[in-house]
Amino acid sequence: MRKLMKLLLPAWLVAKLRALKQLRQLRAAIERALAASEQPATRSGRSVVEAMRAASRYQPAPDEQAWIDRIEDVRAALDASDEVVEFDDFGCGEATTADLSVAGLASRPRAGRLGEFSMLASKTRPWAYLLFQVVRRCRPKWCLEMGTCVGVSGSYLGAALKLNGGGRLTTLEGAQAFATIARKTFDRLGLDTVSELRVGPFSLTLPRLLEGCEPIDFFFVDGHHDGAATQAYFRQLLAHASEDAVFVFDDIEWSAGMADAWRTIRQSPSVTYSAGLANVGIVVTTRRRGEPTQGV
Ligand SMILES: C[S@@+](CC[C@H](N)C(=O)[O-])C[C@H]1O[C@@H](n2cnc3c(N)ncnc32)[C@H](O)[C@@H]1O
Repeated sequence: MRKLMKLLLPAWLVAKLRALKQLRQLRAAIERALAASEQPATRSGRSVVEAMRAASRYQPAPDEQAWIDRIEDVRAALDASDEVVEFDDFGCGEATTADLSVAGLASRPRAGRLGEFSMLASKTRPWAYLLFQVVRRCRPKWCLEMGTCVGVSGSYLGAALKLNGGGRLTTLEGAQAFATIARKTFDRLGLDTVSELRVGPFSLTLPRLLEGCEPIDFFFVDGHHDGAATQAYFRQLLAHASEDAVFVFDDIEWSAGMADAWRTIRQSPSVTYSAGLANVGIVVTTRRRGEPTQGV
């Protein structure tokens, strides 16, 4: 059906229909999560709830809309690109590559149409807008993204920081070819001033980044969707999180292992608020740096 639609309809209409479907799914997921969750106890928790409500309304202010339009133009060009990319595949959106390696070091050489990977791996507009709203409302000083791909979600995060008038993004990507494309994405949008991209497997780039780093306020974990690895990343990141930090995990319904990881993470004693939104999980944590990591 999807293939038939792609053949019969212009690309912009396919993208619009896809975004509308995703917005409906996002709204339903947010409604369910808000009905099921407790009142948040902290400032970040309250900001996350406001962000979910704003994402569900989807009424960007004019300055926000201007950024979204620019990012979506870049996305449209990426999605339409027939350029062939050769890259180290660490897993970019397909179940077959989900568990390449628990250690996160393994990758395999692969080639394909840029447009295919961009479309498959990048957060769609409504979900990227949710990330954008979380950053707008929580006003983090430092954001960390794991899994840049071609820079779409990173652009939404960077745009939110620009509109906030402060804050920076560090984003990690294993595949050099995607990192090169993401850098061009950030350059085209003028986001290179707020975004730093580091290339290499998480198992190498993450410890280097975390060594002696300042507290991190916002995390978007969207790469290496392995349950055990995701729990290990949470433990590792929590030790460097600010006191009222926000974590967003993508693909929590990817596999039984990821679902299990999400259940464990949201039950961590460090978590003060959590919302499971279909495939996306958000937790707010409280923990002073230097304290031992509890529970996970
Ligand atoms: C789903 S894509 C990220 C999409 C992006 N966040 C967006 O929405 O625009 C996941 C990315 O993580 C990268 N990745 C996966 N496992 C990794 C690992 N162990 N180390 C480094 N990068 C990894 C992949 O190369 C891929 O580009």
